[in-house]
Amino acid sequence: MLVRELPEHLGRAVTVCGWVQTLRLQRRMQFVLVRDHSGTVQLAHRRGGQQDLLEQELERLTPESAVRVTGRVVADDAVRLGGLELVPEAVEVLGRAEPRLPIDAHTGPEQRLDWRFLDVRRRPQAQLLFAVQTTFEAGLRAFAQAEGCTEMHTPKLMGSASESGAEVFELGYFGRSAYLAQSPQFYKQMAIAAGIDRVFEVGPVFRAEPSYTARHATEFTGVDVELAWTAGVEDVMDFEERMLTHALALVAERHGAEIREHFGVEVTVPQLPFPRLAMAEAQQLLRAEGWDPEGAKADLDPEGERRLAALVQQRTGHEFVFVTHYPAAIRPFYHARSAQQPGLTLSFDLLWKGLEITTGAQREHRHEVLLRQAAEKGLSPEPMRHYLDAFRFGCPPHGGFGLGLARVLMVLLGLESIREAVFLFRGPNRLTP
Ligand code: 4AD
Repeated sequence: MLVRELPEHLGRAVTVCGWVQTLRLQRRMQFVLVRDHSGTVQLAHRRGGQQDLLEQELERLTPESAVRVTGRVVADDAVRLGGLELVPEAVEVLGRAEPRLPIDAHTGPEQRLDWRFLDVRRRPQAQLLFAVQTTFEAGLRAFAQAEGCTEMHTPKLMGSASESGAEVFELGYFGRSAYLAQSPQFYKQMAIAAGIDRVFEVGPVFRAEPSYTARHATEFTGVDVELAWTAGVEDVMDFEERMLTHALALVAERHGAEIREHFGVEVTVPQLPFPRLAMAEAQQLLRAEGWDPEGAKADLDPEGERRLAALVQQRTGHEFVFVTHYPAAIRPFYHARSAQQPGLTLSFDLLWKGLEITTGAQREHRHEVLLRQAAEKGLSPEPMRHYLDAFRFGCPPHGGFGLGLARVLMVLLGLESIREAVFLFRGPNRLTP
């Protein structure tokens, strides 16, 4: 039985499984606070003398031991927890914790990551994160399926680097090199060429970037979508904003109150459509506000993204903004170019409260144009021959996007670092536990 169900069982004997949170062993009474993921309940045992086995068992308990307790639910106005406590009749230690815990309330962030399982176990809000993630993913998947997407699982081991070849982990593979996929990009496009009109994938993404920021990991979960027969990048943005709105509505409905309580954040369902702003307009807007750092000609740095999002929110009340029409020079070769302004791509980033959560684009699906764009970037066609082959035999126009799951959770729950938004973080300095 869960702790939160106890009020329905007042006066009856119940069994609860959980962890010992605190022990107060007094002269006449022994109090033990037991926690499961739904709440905490106090055990109150009156000492009975030398022969009391239960008393001895309680005396030997250690914090964080896993226990099974059978006892009677009684009302006690002095107890805060809904006025209920358990009078234990039997306590069984299922997993004894060593007496000294490696972390406490004052432990620093790195050591907490070393002991992540204990840290998560002891903090209900850390567990809530994974419940929210499950609901959010379920919302994305349900939407994708209702819209005709097929869920694919593409290889993460590759014979040559995906995309640009930079930031890729290389590993030994039976006497030659293999690479960990930096994105399912090439394979989801291949699925489009395979006649799977709408592709959805949730899977690991590996980036060998030496980035030590609060928003970068070397391994993260990516949510990818690729849609065939798109008339342009607008179709891709329309799909993404509807998909996010659907998933956020589900999160608000299922977890809104808990998120407010534990994270102090209000989950709101965004209005459609999300604002869209071409990169050039975004730069103009920022310059008009007096922000024009050296080197910010083509792209926005994280500070620029934050400022832009704040400006858009001021003007439209919207937390999301699609920034579109990035210069070809800073986008991958497979992004389609604008027919009117060939220096610009039909691509976008989606910012949420100033953090980039998505990159997407209409793709270049014409083989000869794709080859030309790759050559312009100095990329040799040979290592990506199999990818390029997918464009030689009738590839439909298509577009899609990649969404960083942990980035979404960071913004959704107001977390300062991606380290807190995943179960076990991977960064340049962290490969354990
Ligand atoms: O912007 P990225 O690199 O785009 C791609 O991988 C494209 N193939 C996607 C596409 O369909 N065009 O990555 C997509 C998203 C980013 O917007 C960000 O949310 C997240 O993945 N992301 C990271 N998350 C955590 N740590 C990192 N190092 C990340 N790099 C990107």
